[in-house]
Formats: sequence, structure tokens, C-alpha cells
Amino acid sequence: MKTAEIARRYLDYFEKNGHTILPSASLVTDDPALLFTVAGMVPFIPYLSGDVPSPYSRVADNQKCIRTLDIDEVGKTPRHGTFFQMLGNWSFGDYFKEGAIRFAWELLTTPEDDGGLGFDPADLWVTVYEEDDEARELWLTLTGIPEERIQRLGKDSNYWSTGLPGPAGPCSEIFFDRGPEYGIDGGPATDDDRYVEIWNLVFMQYEITDVRSKYDFTIVGELPAKSIDTGMGLERVAFLKQGVDNMYETDQVRPVLDKAVELSGKTYGQVHEDDVRFRVVADHVRSSLMLLSDGVTPSNEGRGYILRRLMRRAIRAMRLLGVEGPTFAELFAASRDAMKEAYPEVEADYPRLSQYALAEEATFLRTLAAGSELLDASVEETRRAGGRSLSGSEAFLLHDTYGFPIDLTMEIAEEAGLSVDRAAFDSLMQEQRARAKADARSRKRQLADTSVYRDFRAHGETVFTGYSDLETASSVLGLLVDGQPATRATQGQIAEVILAETALYAESGGQVADKGVIVGPGFELDVIDVQKPVPGLISHTVEVVSGEVGLGQPATSVVDAVNRRAAQQAHSATHLVHAALRDTLGTSATQAGSLNRAGYMRFDFSWNQALSEATKSEIEEIANNAVRDNLEVTTRVLPLDEAKSLGAMALFGEKYGETVRMVDIGGPWSRELCAGTHVGRSAEVGLISLVSESSVGASNRRVEALVGLDAFRELAAERAIVSQLTTHLKAPRDQLPARIAELQASLKAAEKRIAQFEAKALGERIPGLVERAQQVGPVRVVAHAIGAVGAADDLRTLTLQVRDRMGSEPAVVALGALVGDDRPVVIVATNEAARDAGAKAGVLAKTAAGLLGGGGGGRDDVAQGGGPDASALARALDAVVAELRSAVA
Ligand code: ALA
Repeated sequence: MKTAEIARRYLDYFEKNGHTILPSASLVTDDPALLFTVAGMVPFIPYLSGDVPSPYSRVADNQKCIRTLDIDEVGKTPRHGTFFQMLGNWSFGDYFKEGAIRFAWELLTTPEDDGGLGFDPADLWVTVYEEDDEARELWLTLTGIPEERIQRLGKDSNYWSTGLPGPAGPCSEIFFDRGPEYGIDGGPATDDDRYVEIWNLVFMQYEITDVRSKYDFTIVGELPAKSIDTGMGLERVAFLKQGVDNMYETDQVRPVLDKAVELSGKTYGQVHEDDVRFRVVADHVRSSLMLLSDGVTPSNEGRGYILRRLMRRAIRAMRLLGVEGPTFAELFAASRDAMKEAYPEVEADYPRLSQYALAEEATFLRTLAAGSELLDASVEETRRAGGRSLSGSEAFLLHDTYGFPIDLTMEIAEEAGLSVDRAAFDSLMQEQRARAKADARSRKRQLADTSVYRDFRAHGETVFTGYSDLETASSVLGLLVDGQPATRATQGQIAEVILAETALYAESGGQVADKGVIVGPGFELDVIDVQKPVPGLISHTVEVVSGEVGLGQPATSVVDAVNRRAAQQAHSATHLVHAALRDTLGTSATQAGSLNRAGYMRFDFSWNQALSEATKSEIEEIANNAVRDNLEVTTRVLPLDEAKSLGAMALFGEKYGETVRMVDIGGPWSRELCAGTHVGRSAEVGLISLVSESSVGASNRRVEALVGLDAFRELAAERAIVSQLTTHLKAPRDQLPARIAELQASLKAAEKRIAQFEAKALGERIPGLVERAQQVGPVRVVAHAIGAVGAADDLRTLTLQVRDRMGSEPAVVALGALVGDDRPVVIVATNEAARDAGAKAGVLAKTAAGLLGGGGGGRDDVAQGGGPDASALARALDAVVAELRSAVA
């Protein structure tokens, strides 16, 4: 049975049983602590927690997921995939344990000919949470599964949460017994290669917090409603139903594996290590394709880093299979062909996806080449010094800075007969991991506890009236002081206010929150921030400027109109610049983030090289032409699928089945999904002035622009500077660059001549200084302060010149001078005969430095010392002579 067929049967079954079928949400979550959709339930967390009332009572879907926690297991076990699909059915406050068990059992054991999945009940086992007698009873009575095939397990395997505060509950898992040839008897409690988990039924019942680990957390209380969350591993069922040994050999993955085999010229199924590598390639290429398709691009942090790591591991595995050149063109095409039936977008968007994959491959192959060179040099060095092992810090540097994998380092070192200090390397990695973990922990802590908003959200969404109105009369629905529900807030207090309706825009989609006030009978609130702490609920953070505000009171939100107008100019400008970028660079320049506030816009997009001046001007001109053309801005609210079919790009985790807001400027020319506020016609934007273009990360660029009056002010300020320059330089505007170049050239020439004069003047002092030599034992010494010099280097040159002039008899020269900002410096130089007699420049310079109140030292032949105390220069030179006297005595 093909993978797609299993999914179809699953969804058909649940649709027949009253479930709404939803398409998969994006792999990218909007939850910063989670990064990816790691389970089918992730998009439904607000419904499970009760933060947002669910519009559905029963749902089923096939959700794309990414998990990389067990990345090292990939290819070694039959069932660890970094990308996988999770079939799930949900009840939000509808059926509970009994319904979930009944549905699961029926679908699994109904014969294939009757539309089921056709598992033999004799092959199935189940586990229940050790304290869950109820589930155990239900399995016995509803399915007739014999008692001995139900096992009780602890929290570590039979309790489910995402690992973050939120909904959780005991679970019950269904396993398939592959038979004694795959492992020992004893059920799922003993062996997870023989007994493969295929379906997890979670009985969502509790809210947890303070999550210390998957099975160590605090239960805060019951959820508002009991719910069901289930997950069936589509790849697992596929490999069992397809009669193959593991998920990498199923119809959606195997073609990539076969392609890797073909490229390597090796055979699959012969050498275990090679088989693992083939499976790693197949898995990682597919995961990368799916991540790219959901808008992730390779980078050095967060989601992009995980994508980069997957691609690099695939390249590395191909190399270990003996292929050194590029392979992604063929591997990704194979994965596209295997996945396009289920995910047509991987084919439609393939030019963009493959561009990223190929660029990343080319970069990493270069890295490998450069790293190899560096490593070769370290190996050479180590061997020359008679060492037998490369240091851990060298291996770590290669890994950390050059992305050079440790196993490759070890392999190359080994070929040269060296080992690698693996323990030291591991401990450096450990430190780095600890840092990363601390980082992630602090991110988690930042996650607000959203449960306090639940009751407010239960009244429905906050109505946002601000698209058309700048002032709206409503009432106070909720109040929070210090994060806790309150009935009133008084003058001077900071509070959060929730209104039934508001004209104030909450920060989202890159547009900053409105400024404004909320007023009511006897109170005035200054709005500090407006946010959506849970989807659909708008909360205003305010300072009570006067009076006292209480629950239920009438309250009118008033938007600061000037600020809002400037913010919407900026937001519309962002859409115009985005459209202009796509006109100029093509559609692969997709949005990666934006910020719009009054007078300023910032737009990040995926692109991996700097824009030329000509391109920047072109983009600026196209955007400003669109302003001049006074294009109409129209907005429509419509279902997501319809907006997509009209060409709108959905990038930021919009969910299907949702209605979205589509903003057009000039019809389809600029068409985006956007909940922001905009100008009515493009001419209101006024003016867009690009002020910078820079890189953010390896594969994104950022343009920044000033908008409207701010753009005008910026240009006016530049005009004022130009006018000052024309006056000072006495040149008309268009000749300014030439005039400045001319001045720079003549300044350079003058500096050169001054340097020549100075060198000559110093040079002329050489004979005089040589004459000052005094005899100290066998050594002739010049110790003299020469006034001021421009740079210590000049003093050094002079010192060496004097020494060379003194011939081959023992000679030492110590010259002092004030350098630059009056800093005293002494340079000491010795010749060979003096050194033979016991003179050491480093020691002498240190002595001088000691008197100057600073430090110094250096080699035996020439050394430097200095310090803060200019008045001690003469004494420092005397001390050099005294020191020398005792050294040569
Ligand atoms: N959320 C459950 C899981 O991922 C169904 O296993």
C-alpha cells in the first residue's frame, strides 16, 4: 500500500466519523521556543489548552513534522526520520478515551478490502500509563485484545507533552509485532525494533508548567476540557504495509536512496556502515527539501542552522560513500519526484528550492576543501614537532569555525598516522552545548504564560475597528495588574486592558503597535504597547494617567492619527519595495521579515549576494514610480486557498481553513497576505528613499528605507551638506567628487613629502649620535633622548641605523623620544659582538620601561619599552647604561 493511500484511508475514515479534514500546517511554527512543528498537535495547542475556543469539535489531518533530537539514530534504526508525517485525529472537548480507542482499533483492524488498514489483531500490542486503569479496562472490553498484550509503562514513555508548559496527558500506544526474527519476546516494554509503535493516543487532560524534562514537571490543574490528540507515524505504517525493513525503503524515500547508490557505484545491502549512510542521505535530502519548501533557508542559527546541518550531513555521508563532487542536483530532483504527488508545491517551487540546495552544497564543498588545507597544515606541523596527536582545540576550531566535521578530521589525521585528542574535543563541544542549552532555557523562560488570557478570549475575538476608524467606543472586558486579573487600576499604575472592540493596532506582521490613549468616565490611559498574547485577543499595556479604570466601564480607544498615518505609509512602502524587488530580482527574492514604523521600513529577503548600485537605484525607482502612479490599495478577506490561487504568497504559518486578508496595490502587481493597515492609494506614501542594503546572515539581505516626510527630511539634510561643501570647496555640485578626489591626492602627496623630510632630518642626526658613544666596559654605548618623533617606528629605524653605523665592535644603542601624544618610548638595539659580551636588548628595554612606569621587552637584538611617565626619560636612559654595565662586567 503506497504511503499516499494509507493517508487517504486514514482521512476518509475519520471524515466518515464526523471529523473536519484540515491540510497540514507549515513545518515552521510561530512559537520561538519550538522552532518546528514536532508533532501533529502543535498547530492545535491553543485549542487543546483552551486558550482559544476551537471552531471544530473533531478534526483529522496529515501533518508534516520535523524532529532532529535523535538525528544520530537516523539510518541505524528502522524508524527514525528527521522529516515524517503524522496522521492525527482530534477531539476538542468531544469524545475522550473510549472514542479514541474505538476509532483506532477499528481503522487498524478493518480488512484492506473494506477500506481499513488490514492489520491482524494478533500482531498488535498496546501500552497504557501505569496509573491509567480506565484505559486498560477500555482496551479489554472494547477490542478484546488479550490481557497479556496490554502493558503498563511509566511517565517516560506513556505521558505526552511538547516539553514546554501547556497541555499534557497520559497516553496509550499501539505497537506492531514484527516477529521473533526482529528481536526478543516480551512486548513493547522490552524491545522497540521488534515491536514498532505505530499510533499514540494522548488523553489530554492536564495543564503542566515548570517542565524540567519530558517526565518531570508540575501539573497545575485540569484543562478546561478533556481532549484527544493522536499521532500515527505514516512512514512507520508505510514500511510495515509495504513489506520493507525500514522507513527509508518506502515509496516516498527509497528513490533518493537508490539515486545515492547509483551515484556512489556501490551496492545497498552489503556493508552495514554504507547502508546507514545511504539512509542518512535519503532522509536528510528529503527533510531539507521539505524545510526549504516551507520557507526555511540555510543559515547559522535557529531553523536555518538545522537545515544547514541536515544538508551538510548528507554531503558528508556521500563523501564517505566515496563521492567527492556535487550530487544535490540529482538527489533533490529524485526527492522532488517522490514527494510531488503528496506535496505539489515542491515541484512548483523547485527552481527556488534547488537554488538554495545547490548553493549550500557548493559552499560546503569549498569549506571542505579549505578545511582540508588547514588540517593538512596542522598535521604537517604536528608531525614536524614530533607530536602524535592533533590537539582538541585545533579539531574544535576546524569544527566550529570552518564547519569541518570531527569524523573527517579524525579520518584525515589517521591517514597521516596521527590521532586526535578526542576527549579534549568532546569537552569543548560539551561546553558549547551547555552554552546553547542555557540559551534555549532562557528562551523558554521568556515564553509568557498565556493561561490568564483564556477567560477573556472565551468571549470571542477582540474586534479590531482600526482599519476604518481611529476612535471606537467600547467597554473594559478585562484588566490585569502585575499579570494577575484585577477589577481596577488606579492612577500611576501600569495595567493591561482588554476591550471588546478597539481601534488600536496590535503589533503584528512587522507593523509596530499604535500609539494612542484610552479614555472613559473619569480616567485617561496612555497606551504603551498593544499586543496579541493569544491569537485573536488584543491586549493594551497602559499607564493610568489619571483617575481609576474598572472592569465593565465604558472606554474609548483613540489612535494617535499622525503616528498611525506614518506607520501605514511605511507598511505600504514595504509592499511596494517587495514588489519592486521581485520585479528586479525575480520571484526567488522572498520575504524573510520586515519592520514598519512611522517614517521607516526594513525588509529582509532571501538573496545571497550584495545588490549593485544600479540594482538598488532600479528598485527605488520602480517603487517610487508606483507611488507616483497613485495605485489603488484594496483589501479583501477570503479563504486561504482562494488567495493562494490568486497568487498571494503564504509564508508565515497561515493555516488552511482560515480566512486571510489579502492586500493589493495596483491589482496583482503587489499582492500579499497581510493584516496590517495601509494607505488608501499609493501616492499617500509620498516618497521612498533607500538608505542601506546589507547582509543578515549568509543567505538574506536587508534593505532599509525612509518613508514620507522622513525620506524628504533625509534628502533635505543631504542637500544642506552638499550646499556647505560647494561653498567650502568652491566647486559646483556636480564637480564635488572630482574636487574631493583632487584634494585627497594632493594631501597624500604632501604627507609623503613630509615623511621624506622627517626621515632625512632624522638621518642627518646619525653622525652626531654616533659621536656621543661612551665606553662601558668592552661596549660602546649611545644612550640619548632625541626629542619628539611622529611614530615609534621612526625611532626604531633611527636606532637601527645608528647601531649599523657603529661597526662590528661591541655596540649598544638606546634612543628615547616622545612619540605622538607625548608618550615616552625607548628603543634598544645591540649588535652581535655586544650580545656575545652579554648585552640583551630585551632586558635593557625592560629596565627603561620600569622607570617610565610601563612595560617592555623583546628580543636580544632589538626591543622596545615605554610607559606613562615622560619626565623619567633621562633617568630611564641612565638606567639602561647602568644595567648594561653590570651585564658586561
Ligand atoms: N502528540 C502525540 C505524539 O506526537 C500524539 O506522539
